[in-house]
Amino acid sequence: MDWNLEILEKSLAGKLIGHKVYYYPEIGSTNDEAYRLGVDGVPEGSVVIAESQTKGKGRNARSWYSPAGLNIYTSVILRPPIAPSAAPQISLVAGVAVAEQLERYCAGRVKLKWPNDILLTGKKVCGILAEMKTAADSIDFVIIGIGLNVNMQLHQFPVEIQTIATSLREVIGYEIPRQELIIGIYENMTKWYKQFLEDGFEPIRKKWLEYSAMAGQRVQVVFRDKKICGEALGIDEQGSLILLDKNGKTIKVSAGDATILKE
Ligand code: BTN
Repeated sequence: MDWNLEILEKSLAGKLIGHKVYYYPEIGSTNDEAYRLGVDGVPEGSVVIAESQTKGKGRNARSWYSPAGLNIYTSVILRPPIAPSAAPQISLVAGVAVAEQLERYCAGRVKLKWPNDILLTGKKVCGILAEMKTAADSIDFVIIGIGLNVNMQLHQFPVEIQTIATSLREVIGYEIPRQELIIGIYENMTKWYKQFLEDGFEPIRKKWLEYSAMAGQRVQVVFRDKKICGEALGIDEQGSLILLDKNGKTIKVSAGDATILKE
């Protein structure tokens, strides 16, 4: 058991992200709980952490495997003063912050796959699920849900994801105290979120591209029943993926599931 709430709360006291921690030994989904708290009006930077989730949610209505004692499941409530159309940028802010934090444990091996998967050795180690509540033309709050496989070993993953998912422990070969890691993640998210509020999306876009697993690769994006293929050129100022199709035409994709195609 590596959560010590007293120490966690002391370490995060006064910080923008994590100043208020809602901890649950077990919950349906930290995102759902954070959404409920958001509606209740809790301040920006409040976080929900769960030891395990019974209904962990992934993107596109998938589930997120969330056993106890091994990983990080957390949701952060933010209230950015930006238009709802710019909300995808916030989820890329979180991707960059988590990726940079993971770099401290495995330098040079962390990659980002659009929109927001974090990969180690080509396998997914972390997923981010952003959900939002709008009020008229503004954002009431955004929930950034982070699922990070920390100490789970290969045989503990469901068989069907063993070839596509990994954990930090699988890659670096030793266990990491989750509390130290989550404090680092909140601190780094605070740093990048403040940078975003002060200087806009451009610094985040640049950093995201440094970690990109996609630039120059052939990529397929599936959105609902539509498939788009092309060479990934980067992301634009909104956070959309830029593809070059086989006719030399540039396409911008704002949502979907991306796969890097093997030649
Ligand atoms: C993805 O599909 O890649 C996103 C996965 C996000 C999972 C996290 S775990 C904490 C938070 N609570 C949820 O129910 N989902 C997110």
